[in-house]
Amino acid sequence: MTIHDWQFDPPAEVLQSRLFAAGGYLVVRGLFDEQTLGDLRDEAEQTRAEAERMVVEESDGTEGRGGCPARAYRSGAGGELHWGLHGCEQMAETLAKVCGLRVAPTGSGTYSYYERTGDFLALHRDVLQCDVAVITSLTPCAMDRPAGELVVYPDLMREPLSTARAAGRAAGTSVPLDRGQTMILLGGIVPHEVAPACAGQERIVAINCYRAVTAAPFAPDPSEPETEAVLVERA
Ligand SMILES: [Fe+2]
Repeated sequence: MTIHDWQFDPPAEVLQSRLFAAGGYLVVRGLFDEQTLGDLRDEAEQTRAEAERMVVEESDGTEGRGGCPARAYRSGAGGELHWGLHGCEQMAETLAKVCGLRVAPTGSGTYSYYERTGDFLALHRDVLQCDVAVITSLTPCAMDRPAGELVVYPDLMREPLSTARAAGRAAGTSVPLDRGQTMILLGGIVPHEVAPACAGQERIVAINCYRAVTAAPFAPDPSEPETEAVLVERA
């Protein structure tokens, strides 16, 4: 893939959405109540034993979406509760209201565990199946920001990823998510990463992906393998 393979050409519905107007991301609280947060955390703990460590030493040179960003964290499939909450019509309606954009859930969602010192996910845009990522933290945010937290690059959404890589983290915005806070992110447009976790930190997030429901699709890149399952962090 070359630098010329990235084109910023989202559909009109995305460009006109509240989510886009907000810089491509919103942080909300209260998407899930206290009881549900606890239940999600329980499900995440049950999943953890079968969850796999994802380790990639070096990012590939992807300029657009997907690809293979460097990473080190544990990733597990969301269970019944996760999908029940994220895949239902009520969630699609809530997201449409908050984002000003219709979305449809894809996949069954994941839990990501940043559980070791230095766990991270390098700069990327999400795969084609993930126009919008919904990322809810099940753990308190780190005191030592931006350690272990999402860093987004809304000012560089029109640029190839190499521009953001060259600009470095100072060009991004650190967005710590406290327990119960949810980021709704145009992850297919806004470059983002998870900064390395600090010692003693544990960050667990529930993530689900959505396609934007638009008359014209997000311009798909046929060179992207559909099977690449790197998510948001997957944020
Ligand atoms: Fe992502």
